[in-house]
Amino acid sequence: MDNFYTKLLDNNRKFVEDTLKLDPEFFKDLAKEQHPPLLWIGCSDSRVPANQITGTRPGEVFVHRNIANMVVHTDMNMLSVLDYSVNVLKVKHVIVCGHYGCGGVKAAMGNQSIGIIDNWIRHIKDVYRQHQDELDAVQNEEERFNKFVEVNVKEQVFDLAKTSIVQGAWRNGQDLTLHGWVYGLNSGYVTDLEVDLDSNKDLDNVYQLQFKK
Ligand code: CO
Repeated sequence: MDNFYTKLLDNNRKFVEDTLKLDPEFFKDLAKEQHPPLLWIGCSDSRVPANQITGTRPGEVFVHRNIANMVVHTDMNMLSVLDYSVNVLKVKHVIVCGHYGCGGVKAAMGNQSIGIIDNWIRHIKDVYRQHQDELDAVQNEEERFNKFVEVNVKEQVFDLAKTSIVQGAWRNGQDLTLHGWVYGLNSGYVTDLEVDLDSNKDLDNVYQLQFKK
């Protein structure tokens, strides 16, 4: 067995020991219930771990990750996570966190077929098409890539706001704000894109849902 693998369980034992040293009741308390104030929708990329980069502990962040932090409105996995976190856990914040240098976004800018993933990446290509003029206007390829990462995150925040789940929560007066962030792989810093949505007013009219009484 390779060294990396065998160390995982050793690391886990050390994690338990270290945690219990600080708080002997930590796991006992955590096992009872969870009240995370935050749902994190991030990229699967191994370099963007939700808890570490936000300094949060077990119990504080409900997490959904996929390639390029997408909010695809037919994705039952994402919808289930969103519904549970909004309607059962009553999270107050949802952060869509993309990152510069995202392989999924890079692939969406090109034409190379990679495999089944092409069909996932197509959703990102749709974002490019929606913002084609703005993106094509950026001459430098690196800058265009960065811009595309940002635009994609903003679009996913709006896609979250379009869901019946989020609009239903707003309609019920629930305290829920959506945010868009981009993480810098080479700096460790997050850029807040300041798309903070807490109502459906900023959506195009056709997406604004009205609910039966
Ligand atoms: Co990525």
